[in-house]
Amino acid sequence: MKSILVTGGTGYIGSHTVLQLLEADYKVVILDNFSNSSDESLKRVQEITGKKADLYEGDIRDTALLNKVFSEHKIDGVIHFAGLKAVGESVEKPLMYYENNLYGTLNLCKAMQANDVNNIVFSSSATVYGDPTELPLHENLPTGSPTNPYGQSKLMVELMLADLYKANNKWNIVLLRYFNPAGAHPSGLIGEDPNGIPNNLMPFITQVATGKREYLSVFGDDYDTVDGTGVRDYIHVDDLANGHLKALAKLEDKAGLVTYNLGTGQGYSVLEMVTMFEQVSGQKVPYKITPRRGGDVAACYADPKLAAQALGWTAEKGLKEMCEDSWRWQSNNPNGYKA
Ligand code: NAD
Ligand code: WQD
Repeated sequence: MKSILVTGGTGYIGSHTVLQLLEADYKVVILDNFSNSSDESLKRVQEITGKKADLYEGDIRDTALLNKVFSEHKIDGVIHFAGLKAVGESVEKPLMYYENNLYGTLNLCKAMQANDVNNIVFSSSATVYGDPTELPLHENLPTGSPTNPYGQSKLMVELMLADLYKANNKWNIVLLRYFNPAGAHPSGLIGEDPNGIPNNLMPFITQVATGKREYLSVFGDDYDTVDGTGVRDYIHVDDLANGHLKALAKLEDKAGLVTYNLGTGQGYSVLEMVTMFEQVSGQKVPYKITPRRGGDVAACYADPKLAAQALGWTAEKGLKEMCEDSWRWQSNNPNGYKA
């Protein structure tokens, strides 16, 4: 498996994965509509690696473009990151989410089928477990009911891909359920660049630390957790990216349909995150306790054993590196990729 189409390859997780693919000498073709990114991340990836990827600007819902990409390159497998991911926005604009995430994936799979490409790695999410009935979360637990259209779209794609495999075992499908990505490449050249007010904890903390935001709202301190604040399994984006290279190796072994958690197995509370960030950055992160955010769960962390056994993958970087690398990225690029 040498030639990989990466949809959404200029986004946060995509850019870190493309970097590792190039370093490992894969031939990389990217398709991205820049709805949440730009080509600046790719320029930086090429600067770091000294290697080039082919970039198509366009949409996974565009069948003619997909056919063009597949006819211009002999693609062995697809890593499918492209999609929308803002939970709150998905509640307000559900059709936009189903169209991008569900229909977009359906369209991609149709084009893959038409071009005899049967290998796909899909970006799923721990959100498919819904409100955890037991912890840590392992892959054999039944999927739950995600509380928002974003999460539902991820679950629906998982179900669609499972049906596709059932109908034709020629497909090789790896579903990767990410926990909470954080951190950035240690160069400080690429990282997460959210539009507007960040929804996620780590980018919010880094923007408070640079003075761009006044304080962090901690959404509830009355959960049944170590200090009452929400607990999550934060995973370094480079570890996550590496999970995709391991998943490609699995596709070569004729994976069938397989599902893996990509998490560390270790949960940290919001206040533990703040404390670690303050320690490594030397910056104060003022915060206020505010009411719980709708749809949040108390705690969510992975059982990562299956990925270790089946892929030979484990997360290597800890919370300290996630905070250090996020801070380096944010302080070197206070406006993200915008000059
Ligand atoms: P991101 O927004 O940085 O990257 C997504 C990329 O896809 C962007 O570059 C965007 O421009 C592109 N894109 C969106 N819709 C497209 C379309 N219709 N056609 C072509 N390109 C399109 O997000 P990310 O954090 O890198 O996430 C990547 C994937 O991982 C997403 O599918 C996301 O749902 C999933 N995921 C993310 C997280 C997280 O917390 N970041 C957690 C679990 C799963
Ligand atoms: C983490 C913790 C918050 C912001 C979401 C999506 C999930 C996946 C990852 C894409 C929680 C608390 C946060 C803030 C806070 N996305 N928090 N103040 O909610 O676990 O997961 O992103 O696939 O589908 O739901 O991540 O970073 O938003 O929150 O107190 O300003 O930080 O309550 O406990 P979450 P998060």
